Amino acid sequence: MRASSPQTPRHPLWLLIGFWFCVVISIAVVVRRLIELIRGPQSGTTPLVQINDTFSSHAALTSAHIIPAAIFVVLATVVLLRRGPVKIWEQLFFPFGAVTGATAYAMSVYSIGGWIERSAVLVFDTWFLFCLSRAYVLYRQGDQEPKRAWMIRAVGVLLGIATTRPVMGVFFATSMLTGLQPKQFFGVAFWIGFAINTLTVELWLRSKRRALLHRNATRRTSAPYQTPVAR
Ligand code: HEM
Repeated sequence: MRASSPQTPRHPLWLLIGFWFCVVISIAVVVRRLIELIRGPQSGTTPLVQINDTFSSHAALTSAHIIPAAIFVVLATVVLLRRGPVKIWEQLFFPFGAVTGATAYAMSVYSIGGWIERSAVLVFDTWFLFCLSRAYVLYRQGDQEPKRAWMIRAVGVLLGIATTRPVMGVFFATSMLTGLQPKQFFGVAFWIGFAINTLTVELWLRSKRRALLHRNATRRTSAPYQTPVAR
């Protein structure tokens, strides 16, 4: 998300804070999962040990998902925030995004949250891959502004995986009261986390577009009162 210039409006601070919050969580969960994978299966019957064992039992697929995903998140920050040329980073952005999306489908086969989680993956991963494909087509056509909007949509929905984590945290923290187990709330957390990100990005992109249209309309109507030089 490029910083402001006289031509482009500044990205709101709340959006940048949300973006960095999601980036930090995404990288942290990957580092944590990699450490657990290296440690291997542990003994115990707590829900957390069982979750760790589930991912350790298919360590190759988990690694094939989380390592490209972490690289993609880093690439996304460069592509969306850097002011200078980003061509080389964009060339890497698309294949790493495609691998992350493809392996996410495969990961859902072992989903802790069962069919509720799988349904969320089907909806939001498909939307992510659709946005990524649209951005790629526009990238090939050299259509900068729409390409950027579709990239932001893709990154926004993808970072929903980070928003699922605090939601899961709330479910874990209240599990003594609710009696809910991870297999019962993981799917719900997926729906909530991805929906929050998808809607937030969509509403922001639309409000930005409306503001731009309004500004252009105002400029057009005020133009006759300007001097020829100012125009
Ligand atoms: C479209 C975006 C994504 C989807 C649909 C998705 C989907 C999934 C699914 C279904 C699982 C299995 C989890 C379970 O059974 O409950 C998983 C695991 C995982 N994903 Fe993704 N993922 C996405 C993006 C990402 C990103 C961007 C990261 C981090 C950079 C990431 C990191 C992980 C990690 C670390 C795990 C292992 C489980 C854990 O440690 O909690 N994923 N993902």
